[in-house]
Parts: sequence; C-alpha cells; structure tokens
Amino acid sequence: MRERPIVTIDGPSGAGKTTVSKRLAQRASLTWLDTGAMYRACALASRRAGIPWSDGKRLGTMCADLAIAFRREGEEVRILLSGEEVSEAIRTPEISMGASEVSVHGPVREAMVALQRRMGEGGGVVLEGRDTGTVVFPDADAKFFLDAHAAVRALRRYREWGPGEGRTYEEVLKDVIRRDILDSTRQHSPLMMAEGAVYIDSTTLSVEEVVDLMLRSIPLPVPRTGEDGKP
Ligand code: DC
Repeated sequence: MRERPIVTIDGPSGAGKTTVSKRLAQRASLTWLDTGAMYRACALASRRAGIPWSDGKRLGTMCADLAIAFRREGEEVRILLSGEEVSEAIRTPEISMGASEVSVHGPVREAMVALQRRMGEGGGVVLEGRDTGTVVFPDADAKFFLDAHAAVRALRRYREWGPGEGRTYEEVLKDVIRRDILDSTRQHSPLMMAEGAVYIDSTTLSVEEVVDLMLRSIPLPVPRTGEDGKP
C-alpha cells in the first residue's frame, strides 16, 4: 500500500465522473486529475494547429510536446494549454466530439498516458477517465467504474449544455451513444472495467451517496472529511 493513495475512476460520458471525482478529492484530501480534459486540450490544440483529428501520427508528435497543466483556484481546477486558460474552450460539443476522435490514436494515447503517469506517480491523487485503472495505473490502490443508464447520462449532458447550445435532448442522446461506441470499440485502450475495480451505477444515486460508497471501499489511511467539511 502506498503512503499516499492512487485512486482511479473510469466510466462512460455523463456517468458523473467529474463531479464525483472532484468531490472525492475534496473529502479525501487528494489531488484531482481529469484525464478527459487532457484529450480535450489535445483536440483543441490540433484544431488550432490545423491538424485533422484523423491524423494520428501528426497528432502524436504534437501531443508529445503539448504543455498541459492544471492550476487550482479555490474549489476550482483550471486547465492550461501553453499557459493559456482553456477550461471553457474545451467543453463545447464540438471539442467533446474531437476529444473522442483524437483519443482513438495510439501515438496520442502514449503521449497522454506518459504525462498522466508523471503527474500522478507521487500518489495522493484521484484520476478520472476511461483507462486510468486499466492502463495508466493498473496497480492503483483503489479503482472504480462509474456507470449510469444512457438516457440519464444524456439528460445530465443536456442540462449541462444542451439548451444553451440550441440542441435537443434527442441530439445529445445520439452524441452520448456515438461517443460510447467510439470509446468502447476503439483499438487502443477501449473503455472497459479494470481488473479489481468496484462497479457503481449512479443512475439513482446522488453525488454524496456515490462518494460515500467510494470512501467505504478505499481501504486506505487518507484523511476524510464529512459533508460539513469537518473530519
Ligand atoms: O471524460 P471526458 O468526456 O472529458 O472525455 C473526453 C474524451 O476523451 C472521451 O470521449 C474519451 C477520451 N478519453 C480517453 O480516451 N481516455 C481517458 N482516460 C479520458 C478521456
């Protein structure tokens, strides 16, 4: 067992990984590492550089030199691309789809996984993504697979950006299903449950209920705080 744990949370889009992992990080005093944001940053950088999302070789070269960093601001964690804050720019529907497309390429994944390992190897971290428990840290101290019914995941995404973007729920559902297929059928590191991972279905659970379940499953000496922020 490590002195400072490595915790991984994988699962499909809209399962609640981001909200849950952020909250878990807060309650267990861990650093939060959003690996999806890194693939999103790669999609944004390639769009800006004029490299097509289908060009795995050029994307891999670009990603190996990509300056991605996270900066904590109070409760928020901002993502920086070459020093520029891109937290909002990477959340558009277009870049969401781009992230799914760039992440199918082996060279892109190799560059991102290497960076994620460097960022997380010291422990005291919770990583969220699609392959954090299967590929990035298969020897993590606790692994979770967070899932929810596709209709509920689409509804969460729709509430997040559907109305503002003028998109219907049906369009968002189609996107969610398309990304599920892309993420779980790709050749390199397809989305799947890591060996030894705990499966949690968040369809009918609140964020705190999911985090409570996780905290009960982490057999580690991490400082824990309750909902009121007190130990
Ligand atoms: O979790 P997210 O929606 O921000 O992820 C964006 C995309 O990045 C997702 O469609 C798949 C990809 N991804 C990945 O392939 N591996 C990861 N560890 C994280 C995300």
